[in-house]
Order: sequence, then structure tokens, then C-alpha cells
Amino acid sequence: MAFRHTFWSLICLIFVQNYHGTDLCDPYVWLEDPDSEETKAFVEEQNKITMPFLERCKVTEKLQQRLTELYDYPKYSTPFRRGDRYFYFHNKGLQNQSVLYVQDSLDAPASVFFDPNALSEDGTVALKMGRLSEDCRFFAYGLSSSGSDWVSVHFMKADGDLEKLPEVLDRVKFSCLAWTHDGKGIFYNCYPPQDGKSDGTETTSNINQKLFYHVIGTQQAEDVLVAEFPDHPKWHSSVTISDDGRYAVLSITEGCEPVNQLWYCDLQQLPHGITGLLPWVKLVDTFEAQFSYVTNEGTVFTFQSNLDAPRYCLLNIDIERPQRENWSTLIPQHDKDVLSFATCVNQRHLLLFDLETGAFVRDLPLDVGMVSGVSGKKKYSEVFYKFTSYTTPGIIYHCDLSVPNPEPKVFRDVEVKGFNKDDYQTTQVSFLPDVAYLLFVRHLGGVLAVANIRGGGEYGLTWHKAGTLGNKQNCFDDFQSAAEFLIQEKYTTASKIAINGGSNGGLLVAACVNQRPDLFGCAVAEVGVMDMLKFHKFTIGHAWTTDYGCSDDPKQFQWLIKYSPLHNLPAPPYSGPPYPAVLLLTADHDDRVVPLHTLKYSAALQFGVGSSPQQKQPLMVRVDTQSGHGAGKPTAKAILEDTHIFSFIAETLGLDWRQ
Ligand SMILES: *[C@@H]1O[C@H](CO)[C@@H](O)[C@H](O)[C@H]1NC(C)=O
Ligand SMILES: *[C@@H]1O[C@H](CO)[C@@H](O)[C@H](O)[C@H]1NC(C)=O
Repeated sequence: MAFRHTFWSLICLIFVQNYHGTDLCDPYVWLEDPDSEETKAFVEEQNKITMPFLERCKVTEKLQQRLTELYDYPKYSTPFRRGDRYFYFHNKGLQNQSVLYVQDSLDAPASVFFDPNALSEDGTVALKMGRLSEDCRFFAYGLSSSGSDWVSVHFMKADGDLEKLPEVLDRVKFSCLAWTHDGKGIFYNCYPPQDGKSDGTETTSNINQKLFYHVIGTQQAEDVLVAEFPDHPKWHSSVTISDDGRYAVLSITEGCEPVNQLWYCDLQQLPHGITGLLPWVKLVDTFEAQFSYVTNEGTVFTFQSNLDAPRYCLLNIDIERPQRENWSTLIPQHDKDVLSFATCVNQRHLLLFDLETGAFVRDLPLDVGMVSGVSGKKKYSEVFYKFTSYTTPGIIYHCDLSVPNPEPKVFRDVEVKGFNKDDYQTTQVSFLPDVAYLLFVRHLGGVLAVANIRGGGEYGLTWHKAGTLGNKQNCFDDFQSAAEFLIQEKYTTASKIAINGGSNGGLLVAACVNQRPDLFGCAVAEVGVMDMLKFHKFTIGHAWTTDYGCSDDPKQFQWLIKYSPLHNLPAPPYSGPPYPAVLLLTADHDDRVVPLHTLKYSAALQFGVGSSPQQKQPLMVRVDTQSGHGAGKPTAKAILEDTHIFSFIAETLGLDWRQ
């Protein structure tokens, strides 16, 4: 022990950093280099222990087999109409990536329009975004490899032989793809060239994003720079083309807060077309509220906004009379529900959805759950929407507003094999169905509880702000209270509670384990943000300072140091309460929350908590390869990951398989 203690003090002398007068030790700073031999060796050594453990849990085999069966049901997206055709995504069941289909009418046979499975053997190339030109002659689509946020944009003809065009747009990330209605080209965003690699395994900060216009049939080098913000390296922009095709509407954000600036450009007023930086008109030039384009009638624009409306309203702004006193409220905020989505359909109808029910023309009969997909356009009278809950993988409705008394009709209703939704009771819902959760309830005797904690957007801005910045501890308090409630109501005991969260939820899990190790039996933190003093230095981390604050600021440093998972782990020798079983997950191509967060945290966890003779439960990390933050993950990888997570939970909580 004495030796360990001295050793700890010594490394601290070497890796100390001063924050506003406080000296802090960062002994695992060497894990910040993803390419060093030491880091690679660390990852390899960890996986060598974790993988055999996960593969040999008592329930692993049964779980993988059952999960594969459960995943194997047909999945459909909400169809969308473009021109005279209908498009939709479909996955037969176990396909690694969903396939885009096209049909000439809703009853016509469908044919494959784009199949991402053909792009890689192992399904790790995903279709990240796709846009048809207004005349439906071209399809622009973004591909991402191994789960990285980097995208390459490609083009193909959208009819006839679906021929692929030669041009490719690179260095694209967090981008819009907006065709001008003349069908000549698209607006998109990309980052300047950077030193070193950019395949998603690097940690380089993403700054100075620019907006370009690409003319179809030309090379990327010829693309026109239409907006840049050299004085504001953190700004991101995104173009929407107005329904009438006349305006490019530019939304600018600088972080994760729901606020943006709103600029526009009248494309009809460009005598030579799009040839350089556009003469943007700044309708809103502060980050005070959110303004999302819904539609416009001539110069009168309708925005969905949270200006003086934390649950969102619709605002009308006439750009010929842009002064604020002339803005008017089209639909005021509801007294309790959040207006989460609005779009214009059938020329003059607004389709509005709040979180749990939908409404247009009249209320729609929906159960507890959420609307997970909507498609409709101003020029079409038809709308589709998809309703999802924990026990409903998706019912798709179709409604034609051109007829008197339009009635939504069930267009598709999908069942998961071997699951009768009436056997399950849902009292409050806010996420998508996940067959792994169903399996946990059905075969491991689990009760699934989702804590609706402060900080999310589901109840509007006030609820969100109550869990950010200096209020972040509220999230952890709420989560811990939820666990205490489950114990008090005799659903479970502390030693049988497993907690799970990803990304910002991974931070939640790790922070709560540090604060209340006695309250949980097992903790699974996926791709979590663990180093709250440094997150802003890597890839897009700087965008989260609007949620977390930043250690560069003395006051905000005080918020962060109080809960940063990495900085609140005990140092050896540790003799406090044992920690729950911990499984940490990350992946080599996660360029959203870079792996170093999880690697540094797991090293410090094992060194500190692992030093306690009382610590019997495992403290493990699983590092996946050819995989990222989560989006676009091939089905085969998703099944394996869920198998490992729930095997770990079952093994460490002592749960048996129930037929
Ligand atoms: C999905 O990818 C895995 C490799 O990751 C492969 O073994 C499997 O055959 C693929 N599944 C299908 C249905 O193509
Ligand atoms: C606002 O609109 C009114 C007419 O509705 C007009 O008289 C007034 O000048 C407008 N204000 C500004 C600042 O344009």
C-alpha cells in the first residue's frame, strides 16, 4: 500500500496541471494519443480480459440466439413521396444496413433504389444522409465508414439506370445537403484540411466549418464558398431551401443549445447565380432563441420558435417588415405540451406534433408512445407518420388531406415474432423500442425503468436548463432518486439494480456510480464523456460547453470538478464501499465522444477502486473496432454489443435465464 501511495504521488508530480490555482493530476494523459504503442497495448490488454469474460457468461449463448431471433423482424421507415414516386427504407430483419426502395405507387411493386449492404462485406459503410433533387433526377447521398461522423457525399442519377456520377465531396461533417430547386447543385458543409489522418480515429478539434455550393457535374475543387465565419471558429451552419425555392435560409448554431441565428438569401436576386459569398440578410443576428423554418407564403415566413415560449410556438415574420415589433404569433405555446415538430402539407395545412400525441386538422388517436417519423411536403396532400413505443415497433399511418374529412389509415403495422404487446404494460414512455429491453424483461426477469430526469428536451426549455451548466447535479440527483424510489417501492434492491446510459448518459452513469457506489449492483456506461476538464479539446467536444460549461472559466471549472467522473474516482489505497460491477464501452472510430474518455476513466477506476480488497465485482472495458458512437452500426455488431451488455448484467447480478 505504502509503495502504491508513493508511486501515485510520483506520477502526479509529472502529470500535474494547474486549473485556476488548483493542481490536478492527469496520470493517464498518455492514453489521449490513440496511435501510440502504449495506448494500443492498453486496449489490447483490456480486451483480452473483457472479451473472454463477456463471451463466457452463463447466458451469453442463449442471449445471442434469442436476440438474433428477436431482431429478425421486418422494419420499415415512414414512406416519403418525391415527384410521382414513393421511397422508403426497409430492413428484412438481419440485414446490416437498411435498403432504400422505390415504388411508382403505394400498391406498385417496389424495387431497390440504394443498397448500402453492397458497399462493404461487414456492413460498416452506412448511408448517413440522402436528398433527391426537386425534379427527382439526381440523388445526393452521404456515406460514413465504421461509425465515424465523417461523410463523403456521392451523386447518382435517380431514374433509369441509377448511374453513379464520378464526383465525390470529402471532409464533410455535421452537414446540410440542400438542393437548389433548379436541380443544378447543392449546399453542403465541410471542414478545412487538417494535419494527420481524418478517418474518425483522430482527436483533432473540428473548427472553422464552411458552407459550399457544389454544381453537379463538377469537381469539389471548383465548389463555391458561400459562407464562412473566420471570427467564429465554433459556428456551424445549415441551409434549408424555402418551399417555393426562392430563398436559402441559413441557420447558424455554436453549440448544443436550442438557439440559432437566422440569415437568408434571396436566390432570385443573384444576377450571376451562385458564384461567391452570398449577400446574406441577417434576420436574427443573436443567439437568443431558436428559429426553425416551417414554411413561407411569399415574404411571410413561419418559424417554430422558443422565443419567450419554452414549450415552443409558431411565429410569423414578414421579411419586408423584419422589425421585432412586427413579428406575430401564429400558434402560441401550449399550456403544458411541447410543440416538438411542425411542417406544412397540402399547401395550407400545418402538421403539428407534440411529444406524446399528434394533431392535425383534429387530434389523432395515439397510444402512449411517440411519433418517430413524419413525412409530408407543402406541395403534396399526403402525409405519413410513424408511431413507436416500447411495445410497438412501429405503426405507419397514411392520410390524404385532399379529401373531405380526412381519416388517417393504418398503412403498415409490424409485429416482433413471439411478442404479444398486450403482455407488457407501459406507463410512461419516451424512447424507441429496443428488442434487447424486451428480452431483459421476458427472459431475465427484469423490470425496465426509464428515469425522466431533468436536462432533456422532452418538457421544453425550462426542463432542459434545469439539468445543464451549474444545474447539472440535478440530473444525477434525479437519477439516484429514481433508484431509491424503485427500492422503496420494493421493485428491487440496490444490489439488483443495473444502470445503463450512452454518451451524455454514459457520463450520468459514471457520475452516479462515483457519488453512490452503494446504490447500484451493475453499471454499464457506453461511449461516455468522462473527462469534464478536457472534453472541449477533442473533435466536436467544444459544442457541448453550452451544456456543461468549460474548465477554462474559473467558475465553470468549479461546477465540472465536482462531478467529472475521471476526477472523482478514489485514489489508492481505497477502502470505501465497493463499486458495482462496471462495464465501459467505447469504439476506435468514435469521433463524437473520443475513446480516450473511457480509456482514461477505466485506467483510473481499476487503479483506484481496483486496489480495494473489498472490490469483488469486475471493472471492465470493451473497446470495439471498426465502430463508432452508434449511428449506422451494422445489425450484426448491434446484436453482439447488446448480447455482451445484457450478459454482463445477468452474470454480475446473478440473473438466470427464464424460458
Ligand atoms: C452482417 O455483417 C456481418 C459481419 O459484421 C456478417 O458476418 C453477416 O453475414 C452480415 N449479415 C448479413 C445479413 O449480410
Ligand atoms: C409595423 O407594421 C405596421 C403596419 O402593420 C407599420 O405601420 C409599421 O411601420 C411597422 N413597423 C416597422 C418598424 O416597420
